[in-house]
Amino acid sequence: MTTTKTPADLRSARWFAPDDLRSFGHRSRMMQLGYSEADFMGRPIIGILNTWSDLNSCHSHFRERVKDVKRGVLQAGGFPVELPSLSVDESFNKPTSMLYRNLLAIETEEQIRSHPLDGVVLMGGCDKTTPGLVMGALTAGVPMIYLPAGPMLRGNYAGQKLGSGSDAWKYWDERRAGNITDEQWQGLQGGIARSAGVCMTMGTASTMTAITDAMGLTLPGASSVPAVDSGHQRMAADCGRRIVEMVWEDLTPDQIVTEASVRNAAIVAMATGCSTNAVVHLIAMARRAGVDLTLDDLDALGRVTPLIANVRPSGKDYLMEDFFYAGGLRALMKQIEDRLDLSCLTVTGKTMGKNLEGAVVFNDDVIRPLSNPVYAEGSLAVLRGNLCPDGAVIKPAACDPKYHVHEGPALVFDSYPEMKAAIDDEDLDVTPDTVLVLRNAGPLGGPGFPEWGMLPIPKALIKQGHRDMLRISDARMSGTSYGACVLHVAPESYIGGPLALLKTGDIVRLDLPSRRLDMLVDEAELEARRAAWTPPQPRYDRGYGWMFSQHVTQADKGCDFDFLERGFGPAAGEPDIY
Ligand code: FES
Repeated sequence: MTTTKTPADLRSARWFAPDDLRSFGHRSRMMQLGYSEADFMGRPIIGILNTWSDLNSCHSHFRERVKDVKRGVLQAGGFPVELPSLSVDESFNKPTSMLYRNLLAIETEEQIRSHPLDGVVLMGGCDKTTPGLVMGALTAGVPMIYLPAGPMLRGNYAGQKLGSGSDAWKYWDERRAGNITDEQWQGLQGGIARSAGVCMTMGTASTMTAITDAMGLTLPGASSVPAVDSGHQRMAADCGRRIVEMVWEDLTPDQIVTEASVRNAAIVAMATGCSTNAVVHLIAMARRAGVDLTLDDLDALGRVTPLIANVRPSGKDYLMEDFFYAGGLRALMKQIEDRLDLSCLTVTGKTMGKNLEGAVVFNDDVIRPLSNPVYAEGSLAVLRGNLCPDGAVIKPAACDPKYHVHEGPALVFDSYPEMKAAIDDEDLDVTPDTVLVLRNAGPLGGPGFPEWGMLPIPKALIKQGHRDMLRISDARMSGTSYGACVLHVAPESYIGGPLALLKTGDIVRLDLPSRRLDMLVDEAELEARRAAWTPPQPRYDRGYGWMFSQHVTQADKGCDFDFLERGFGPAAGEPDIY
């Protein structure tokens, strides 16, 4: 450890060291909490931002795990303080957890700035908590280390492995087709999520923690450790020890998150099979660090990066527990190290190259060599065209290749309830060539950019044995979803994007190799429709939803609030203390 700070240099010294009335007040309140000056004076004060809640099933172990972090902090000579943080959870936050990612980011930034903290451990994992915590902490700028919740154990029912989300969709289709009994349905319900931890497919949670790991913000490989593995406890204590050293070393996140480390993260996202949500979050995180990552950058990386993590939903057979046993993220990164910038600094104080030394693949069917990828390219593709001039995304590896080039008539729904009411009608006028469209489901229209993009296959087609079809939406979809789903259409229909002009019966054409998505409607007709379009009523008239609606950016810009982005103005400085 290279010490560059003295106790007098600690940020917390501004609160505690001066011989004045305010510091007297701060010290006396610490004594009220039962601490002596010897506990906290001159020691790095480490904030542990804990996103535990009784309603966040993915973080149910955090109440215990925080004790391991505190143990590590104390051992290293720091002073741990736990700060409960907004526990944005994927299962219960409605209308969508995405509405609250930026609220967590604001809270994180201000919690750090306003308190006497010298460094922070960020405890997150369930989808939006990773980008929310990291975005806020990047702006706050104090030394930080990310502690990923870790994936839950594989699901299990009747000897079958079950994958989060993916198998829920799959078996729901079978249930709708009348192929699943009540007893089997109950068994699946009890077996699909059977331990603490985040979804154990390579969904948004595991993609985002892998991205954070690849950026150098976690201990090496921490993102792969299952939540209930004893290694997770050891990793938590290591985080506590390491953050204290980082404070003395003055190792701040701006030294870690750079254009090169963001690029490393994007490459790793592509190699892992990348949730489409990662696009939105990675762009938002990068922009907080002053890196202007674009959809086109991600498309270019998607074209040349093989998918080598054979983990569902893009891969086959395996889940995150298998990925960990196969060597985890360090092993995957070792496979592609020639494509990475190994000179990037990480929270260990060492380079990424150093962190990857000795990493080994133990099962090369789970973590494939570059010579035998799951897909040579195609974790993610970005489309443009007259339906999505600012972009849309699709996950080619997770859809039936016969839809890569497709032309068919649109069946347009203006809202989720309208779609839901129609989709099980066995007389619905639909064929396998139909292109299902759901609009008014973007950042403002949803509201909050919900995960509605994997539109259910109409019952009429399910009964004929069809399990995929082309679907288009300005919504997102769960990272555990799959199928020929075009998502994040920008600009969204709710603000008058071209998707708003599409009518049922119009022919839509997807040409994935050319990265095009178009409606085959002539420009004069589109102009007439544009002139006739009227904006819908605002979703919110007050409160946080109103603020969200005023300031959220579109999908291609990461959906951060405009006033939180780095370019909006300089970050607030240290608070005055009087
Ligand atoms: Fe929390 Fe999937 S519901 S990660």
